[in-house]
Amino acid sequence: MILVTGGAGYIGSHICVELLEEGHEVVVIDNFSNSRPVSLERVEGITGKSLEYFSVDLLDREGMESIFERFDIEAVIHLAGLKAVGESVEIPLKYYHNNITGSIILLETMKKYNVKKMIFSSSATVYGTPKTNPITEDFELQATNPYGNSKLMIEDILRDLYVSDHEWSISILRYFNPIGAHPSGRIGESPSGIPNNLMPYITQVAVGKLPQLNVFGDDYQTKDGTGVRDYIHVVDLAKGHLSALYKSMEGPGIGEFNLGTGQGYSVLDLVEAFEKASGKEVPYEIRDRRPGDIAVCYADPSKARNELGWTAQKGVEDMCEDSWRWIKHNPDGYPSM
Ligand code: WQD
Repeated sequence: MILVTGGAGYIGSHICVELLEEGHEVVVIDNFSNSRPVSLERVEGITGKSLEYFSVDLLDREGMESIFERFDIEAVIHLAGLKAVGESVEIPLKYYHNNITGSIILLETMKKYNVKKMIFSSSATVYGTPKTNPITEDFELQATNPYGNSKLMIEDILRDLYVSDHEWSISILRYFNPIGAHPSGRIGESPSGIPNNLMPYITQVAVGKLPQLNVFGDDYQTKDGTGVRDYIHVVDLAKGHLSALYKSMEGPGIGEFNLGTGQGYSVLDLVEAFEKASGKEVPYEIRDRRPGDIAVCYADPSKARNELGWTAQKGVEDMCEDSWRWIKHNPDGYPSM
């Protein structure tokens, strides 16, 4: 049985689809603070398979132990956590407590039940402002906000844990910019409130729920002046977790892996690609830069290819087509129940 923490979320639900389709048994814990059980019902609908899920908070040690008591957990894919960069600057203690204390409680519980295979959801944000691109895993780590710091601190905890006990098998997956949705159009990103990230904002403009996109700066040293990122299809990202899971089953060890395509696209590239895929216009206005944004960030994904046997397959056209299909059928995201 594979435990997926935060499995009801945008990325987690896509990972559950891939796990079920490859015949794994899945149990999800989620506190549903930024997700809804309906996403997991849709996962079952897509796959025709069932999974177990429980409302358990990372900080609830008793609840966490009850899951390990009840199920024979083979490995843990750990996604649960608070993840809004701007919010983390406003309420850092909540981010550090939830993300770090929560991860320690999970790791202590895993140790107690002798479950020592961990796939951890980290982020390219741990690289801070890279000196050059593409980024390789040995680049300097320098988080620039409490959210990114919490991810980096959990990475350090995992590295120290491995030094203390070589029985662990740990994969640290550094996500670049996940976008898109499952091609069924049944699951996708369902932001609460005004989206912070680019693609969910674009889709809200396309369905007429927001008047225009604000492009945060066009004076970066890039081809069109707007920010460049390594957008990766969420299905490719999900498949990368299965590759890491299979690697963890080969034996103990620890590794950090960039999950990106290696291709950078600007904000205006993405707007153009989305308009082409959807046939919808996305009006935009150039605004000031967003504080904390970096100009360019894209991966060198060769380590994941060489060591995990994983490479992103989908291009930006797929990402836009699948995002459009999701939002067209679910303009308000998941139904609130
Ligand atoms: C992408 C580009 C913006 C919104 C963040 C987190 C990172 C990770 C992924 C969790 C930038 C521009 C955006 C808008 C815009 N999250 N933009 N108008 O900032 O690369 O990464 O999400 O792990 O930790 O930092 O993604 O989608 O917010 O921005 O012009 O309304 O789009 O300036 O160039 P980002 P993003």
